[in-house]
Amino acid sequence: MSGAGRKPDDGAVADNKRRLAAFWDASRDYYRMAAAANPEAAPERRVLLGYLEGGERILDLGCGSCENALWLPEGCRYIGFDVSTSALVMANEEGRPGSRLRGDGETLPVADGSLDAVISTYALEHFHEPGATLYEAARVLKPGGLLLLVGSAWDLPYEMPPSLEPRRRLEVTLRRLGRQLLSLVDRRHRFDTVAEPRVLTEGYVPDADAVHVAQSRQLVRYLEALGLEVLEHRCLPHKPDPSGLRGTLRRLLRRIPLWSRGWGNTLLVARRGAKLERVAYRLLPL
Ligand SMILES: C[S@@+](CC[C@H](N)C(=O)[O-])C[C@H]1O[C@@H](n2cnc3c(N)ncnc32)[C@H](O)[C@@H]1O
Repeated sequence: MSGAGRKPDDGAVADNKRRLAAFWDASRDYYRMAAAANPEAAPERRVLLGYLEGGERILDLGCGSCENALWLPEGCRYIGFDVSTSALVMANEEGRPGSRLRGDGETLPVADGSLDAVISTYALEHFHEPGATLYEAARVLKPGGLLLLVGSAWDLPYEMPPSLEPRRRLEVTLRRLGRQLLSLVDRRHRFDTVAEPRVLTEGYVPDADAVHVAQSRQLVRYLEALGLEVLEHRCLPHKPDPSGLRGTLRRLLRRIPLWSRGWGNTLLVARRGAKLERVAYRLLPL
């Protein structure tokens, strides 16, 4: 499953992972900014938490400083999971409820089928191995358990995170368009990755640390192939459409099913079935 097909150079990926983890570890301000940028009032967070009834055992994948723990319904048993020690220390210092686990989401130290829900907010675009990480999230869910996801999505080929050089837009657009069309034809699963996110050389602006150019349609297809039932898939634009030609173009593109729901943040809710499949995918650097 993980790593099937062409992969970016393993040494370079490992090095970027280490440097990004060091960046997250060194930057308490990053978590303050993330919390400020993604307030509880964000409609997507409210929608996700609305799926919980209370009393669930829930893991927060890429929890940061465990903001989500503050807004859970009564009786939930919360585990915050993150690769950043400083995020988890901050969560403890700020008295966030629940327990913490440190690690990489590609291998969750949690038994199969042991959780009622996995939530992940604004972390999707940071997964170096989205396929393995989403598989792990599904593995630890009980049949019937819920995967609650929100994160940036860049379904339109010309939309891309600030982790990629803006001057590469044309080249990246063509490459992504080609891959999207190919996936429509051969039905294989492909994830676009960023080989060298700009945060490592140019400092932080939101999403300059994104390493996965998430596409919500691709994610839906992959989750369904794993054996999950997608209950909700919608996009929540960061801002209104621009005026003029760009706005018109967007509205036209949105009529195409492939691109109809990939603006701004994407919200996905999926329920695990009784059986979970391992699904081959390719990681394709941009
Ligand atoms: C933008 S922050 C989001 C924090 C929080 N979920 C929120 O809603 O504000 C992304 C988090 O994902 C974590 N992260 C990235 N890749 C990860 C991985 N492979 N495993 C676990 N955590 C990861 C980062 O350390 C960071 O804390």
